[in-house]
Amino acid sequence: MQRSKIKDIFAQGQAGRDVLVQGWVKTRRSSKSVTFIQITDGSTLQDLQIVVDEANPSHETAAGLTTGCSVSVEGVLVESPGQGQKYEVQAGSVTVIGGSDPETYPLQKKRHSPEFLREIAHLRPRTNTFGAMARVRNSVAYAIHTFFQERGFQFIQTPIITASDAEGAGSMFQVTTLDLNDVPKDGGEVKHEDDFFGKPAFLTVSGQLEAEIFAMALSDVYTFGPTFRAENSNTSRHLAEFWMVEPEVAFCELDGLTELAEDFLKHLTGHVLENCLEDMEFFNKWHDNSAIATLEGIANSNFERITYTEAVKLLQSSGEKFEYPVAWGTDLQSEHERYLTEKKIQKPVIVTDYPKGIKAFYMRLNDDGETVRAMDVLVPRIGELIGGSQREERRDALESRMTEAGISLDEYSWYLDLRRYGTVPHSGFGLGFERTVQFITGVSNIRDVIPFPRTPKSVEF
Ligand code: 4AD
Ligand code: MG
Repeated sequence: MQRSKIKDIFAQGQAGRDVLVQGWVKTRRSSKSVTFIQITDGSTLQDLQIVVDEANPSHETAAGLTTGCSVSVEGVLVESPGQGQKYEVQAGSVTVIGGSDPETYPLQKKRHSPEFLREIAHLRPRTNTFGAMARVRNSVAYAIHTFFQERGFQFIQTPIITASDAEGAGSMFQVTTLDLNDVPKDGGEVKHEDDFFGKPAFLTVSGQLEAEIFAMALSDVYTFGPTFRAENSNTSRHLAEFWMVEPEVAFCELDGLTELAEDFLKHLTGHVLENCLEDMEFFNKWHDNSAIATLEGIANSNFERITYTEAVKLLQSSGEKFEYPVAWGTDLQSEHERYLTEKKIQKPVIVTDYPKGIKAFYMRLNDDGETVRAMDVLVPRIGELIGGSQREERRDALESRMTEAGISLDEYSWYLDLRRYGTVPHSGFGLGFERTVQFITGVSNIRDVIPFPRTPKSVEF
């Protein structure tokens, strides 16, 4: 017989049919005459109840099961007289595939702290929270691809190892095969020509610049992959390794980009509401009782659009006591972003036209000469979820920004070539995948929405 997934068993029903299910024991209760086992296979939040009568030759086996054992069960699907589930399985046979030492198995029936669960990241996928998180994460990834595929975007794989620093210096992991105990030097300087690539190489912080290359040939493209930042930010919204989705669109100015971002977020949240309601109800109950309302709010609200200059005025006249002062020309801090989207405007806000001094060199300069066509999408609880811009497509303007920023025109000659041969207005953004999953589920720490978090001083598994 073929193994059925527990999710399909509940979806298909049909009491009276034979089923084979395999999974892990969540709990077991035994009385003299009967043993009840709850098993899960991760296909759904719901456990499947297995009933093993005393007369069953497998009863002794069943009565000895402990949490974490893996089992194979053949039996008949019946309507459950008990409450809490529509169906259960009347066992014919129960076979233990792998035992689980009850003395040392760290997952108990009680709720564990997220900190403890991070220490056992190899077992936490078996918890309700992590199972639900993994399924929602999967569903969001699927929706990312369908959104762009349905709009005719091409999925481009940009490199993970790179020699260029898209976002401006200071936060890259260097990739080297040099022996750190015996670095080859020439007059005090590292001999990079002896290194694997013959020059310094890094883990990418963004696939944007390479995505731009493909947008200048295929018009509408996107990347979706891991990115790396060696920022020493120990916050609940920063990871050293995270996934980013980066669409890049040719023949598109900033207004078109803000529309794309809004449609995109609505698509992702709508998809999760439609496909992960059971898991979302779990998050709503245990993690954030506004999680579902927040998702519904996204679908039904028009995102607010304000300029950076307007945002600064709103913050300055807010009467709020912020830890960091607000002044035109300084970057918005997370507390400022959250005030705008949570308190002042109470829905997603797209802030545009930031001062050029706080944004990357590639953003298109406005006619005022002071601000650039940047946009950040801010959402409640998270702050910045998306960062993007219209790109500087005029070669001379780009060259002056690069010179101002101290970026070598030689090293980025290929980037300038895109403006030399058939340049067009184009725009793109980056959406933080983990921040999106965090936003959707209401889970408070970003370390708990990625299978294996990498943060300063922590790289386990
Ligand atoms: O705003 P960022 O730095 O934008 C870029 O990298 C652009 N090159 C993207 C583009 O235009 N193609 O990063 C984009 C998003 C942020 O809005 C945030 O959601 C997420 O990436 N992000 C992080 N997520 C987790 N941990 C970190 N350390 C993050 N840094 C940025
Ligand atoms: Mg940003």
